[in-house]
Amino acid sequence: MGRKVLLDKAHIEGIRYYDVYRKNGGYAAVEKALKMAPGDVVEEVKKSGLRGRGGAGFPTGMKWSFLAKPEGVPRYLVCNADESEPGTFKDRYLMEFLPHLLIEGLIVASWALGSNRTYIYIRGEYAWIVDILEQAIAEANQAGFLGKNILGTGFDCQIYVQRGAGAYICGEETALIESLEGKRGNPRIKPPFPAIKGLYDCPTVVNNVETLAAVVPIMNLGGEEYAKIGVGKSTGTKLISACGNINKPGVYEIDMTQSVEEFIFSDEYCGGIANGKRLKACIPGGSSVPILPANLLLKTAKGEQRMMTYESLADGGFPTGSMMGSGGFIVLDEDQCVVRHTLSLARFYRHESCGQCSPCREGTGWMEKILTKLEYGKGQMSDIDLLWDIQRKIEGNTICPLGDAAAWPVAAAIRHFRDEFEWHVTHPEEAQVRNFGLAHYADPLEVAVG
Ligand SMILES: Cc1cc2nc3c(=O)[nH]c(=O)nc-3n(C[C@H](O)[C@H](O)[C@H](O)COP(=O)(O)O)c2cc1C
Ligand code: SF4
Repeated sequence: MGRKVLLDKAHIEGIRYYDVYRKNGGYAAVEKALKMAPGDVVEEVKKSGLRGRGGAGFPTGMKWSFLAKPEGVPRYLVCNADESEPGTFKDRYLMEFLPHLLIEGLIVASWALGSNRTYIYIRGEYAWIVDILEQAIAEANQAGFLGKNILGTGFDCQIYVQRGAGAYICGEETALIESLEGKRGNPRIKPPFPAIKGLYDCPTVVNNVETLAAVVPIMNLGGEEYAKIGVGKSTGTKLISACGNINKPGVYEIDMTQSVEEFIFSDEYCGGIANGKRLKACIPGGSSVPILPANLLLKTAKGEQRMMTYESLADGGFPTGSMMGSGGFIVLDEDQCVVRHTLSLARFYRHESCGQCSPCREGTGWMEKILTKLEYGKGQMSDIDLLWDIQRKIEGNTICPLGDAAAWPVAAAIRHFRDEFEWHVTHPEEAQVRNFGLAHYADPLEVAVG
């Protein structure tokens, strides 16, 4: 049984409401933090080894210490609750069931960073969670944990919730900032990074929901104690949203001591593959990270057991490893078609590209067209090489990482499942019959030929 520090109180009835949350130890982290100097809170987060839970895994304490502090200029903390990565739904769980945990983490972080106006940028589709958060904010205001002169310290802080309008790209931190400013959500060219020039050109920290919620156990336990949970540089706990062909889809908190095998097959977590099927592959960190076939998922290329840590999931680099990413764990059984699956992802990225850079704007569309041809039995062997070539030309050549995120799934699918792509070329009639009647493309061949 792994240790839990985020969801340990999620089972308590009424924990969504302030009174119950407070009775169960809530807001102790704020009381502790506000007695400390802001710089000491940052140090505590540094000691914890916490890495950003939004995808890139950048050390949170270090990010906070980069924040510029020019005189007379406001600083902003922005909570990234966009959560649009296919397969990822852990922030939704946190906000829906433990809204005060996030609010508490936000108050501590606002104090540490000197943010008097803090924003939660939430994906538009989470409309009902906006109501939950706003109620929690109102309760925290009434209890004196938000508003003017919090706990008599002279610190003023207010939290505002802003809904996005359903664009995946607005999860990228600079696109999010643009959107928050009321503009089209186009990523900015970096540098300058938000820590220097972010929201309204002021120093800004953007952190994921789970990252900010983790600040609460860090304050309660102390950074050093928190760092003892987990393994090596993968400190603390991580929320994993597990989905696909498993018996028990859901959100699990792991302390990263689990092996991938244990996570998939034990009853404590995913409960094994559904319908008695065999495990074929898995995307362990949200749709943007490379897919791994079962053999490389359970064991690294060196033959070691693969663990649910940042390091082990990435072990082997991109040829044979993947990433923890946002913790969206998508499991595929033996009946799933990797070409169809890759097409579905390519379609998503083509649709979500903001169009600012040509490799991403054009490349994602070309990849979708070629994959559609292959999937519907209209492709040639040379299309597989063309697809490979296109993804290579996108990766690393764009303003923001959406381009990489579109390229990696295609690269990994061809690398590990080339035989399936070739099958679609050598068995065109079967590929077409297999797809006959598929409703999710209005006219797939029209898409393919442009
Ligand atoms: C296309 C794209 C979408 C992203 N979507 C999200 C998201 O929904 N939530 C999130 O926290 N980070 C997302 N990120 C990462 C953010 O840019 C940023 O790194 C993160 O919010 C930083 O928080 P952290 O340090 O706490 O992880 C996305 C990045 C890209 C390139
Ligand atoms: S990589 Fe794609 S999404 Fe990112 S800025 Fe370029 S066109 Fe826009």
